[in-house]
Amino acid sequence: MIGKISKHLTFLYRRFNQRNEIRKIKEYQNPTLDLIVDSFIKVKSECFEKIDTVAFQRQSEYARRLQKDDSIVSYEIFKKGDFKKVSSIYQKAASPYVWCQFYYFLIKLSQTKNFLEIGTNLGVSGGYILEALKHKHNSKLITLEGVSDLKRIAQKHFDSITPPENFEIILGLYEQTFQSVLDKELNYQLIFIDGNHQKNATLEYFEKLLPKLSSPGIILFDDINWTTDMKEAWEFIKAHESVNYSIDFYKLGLIVVDKNDQNKNIDFALHLSN
Ligand SMILES: C[S@@+](CC[C@H](N)C(=O)[O-])C[C@H]1O[C@@H](n2cnc3c(N)ncnc32)[C@H](O)[C@@H]1O
Repeated sequence: MIGKISKHLTFLYRRFNQRNEIRKIKEYQNPTLDLIVDSFIKVKSECFEKIDTVAFQRQSEYARRLQKDDSIVSYEIFKKGDFKKVSSIYQKAASPYVWCQFYYFLIKLSQTKNFLEIGTNLGVSGGYILEALKHKHNSKLITLEGVSDLKRIAQKHFDSITPPENFEIILGLYEQTFQSVLDKELNYQLIFIDGNHQKNATLEYFEKLLPKLSSPGIILFDDINWTTDMKEAWEFIKAHESVNYSIDFYKLGLIVVDKNDQNKNIDFALHLSN
């Protein structure tokens, strides 16, 4: 109860303080921070072009189909012998559309060509990512998923958006597939860590992926306030020597790494959606 009240007070304060925080962010005149603020404002103000609206309608239509889909997905790979309905997986695991729009604009308004996502799930965030990437020459989404039924569903969705050479879904437990990401020749302008929300795993992904991040580059971490463990992971990440700026969106944390910028470990807080 107290936790819930303090969470809502945090949101209220952040919304109240938003203008001030954006002004502070802008003072640093860092192009990646500006891009983040522009994407944030676009989503908040719903200031969309026709091409964005059409892409968002396509993705909302996919979400509506998932919400009504009662087919069963097997989570056998996690050894729990668990089965879940697509509709309930969508409800629990997929990024809300506001966040997906935010990822879309981070790509659209930047030079991003290569995007790495840990956590494909039903391909909900991946759909928006590909809608933005598909307009860029030679772009690539690499995304990782352990559950083969989810990979199959996401693959079908991605095929409806863009040719297969623009994405790759790597199937298998991260414990077995993560190294193959490190072995790839690719570097990423944007990385989204949205699977296996444990402190040790999150820190391992962060430290091992840092050399794969372009400069300037952005890493997004979902669920930074989900558990005490994840809060600790976030505190460690934002204080890391390679991090120039961090923005705590409560649900999600974002770091900017920019080797041309002298500033280090400057923290901001905004609120987009829960
Ligand atoms: C929160 S969901 C990703 C949601 C997706 N990014 C979106 O916004 O639509 C996380 C996914 O990671 C997968 N996952 C979690 N731990 C894993 C592991 N150790 N190995 C492989 N997959 C894993 C789960 O099966 C799940 O589909």
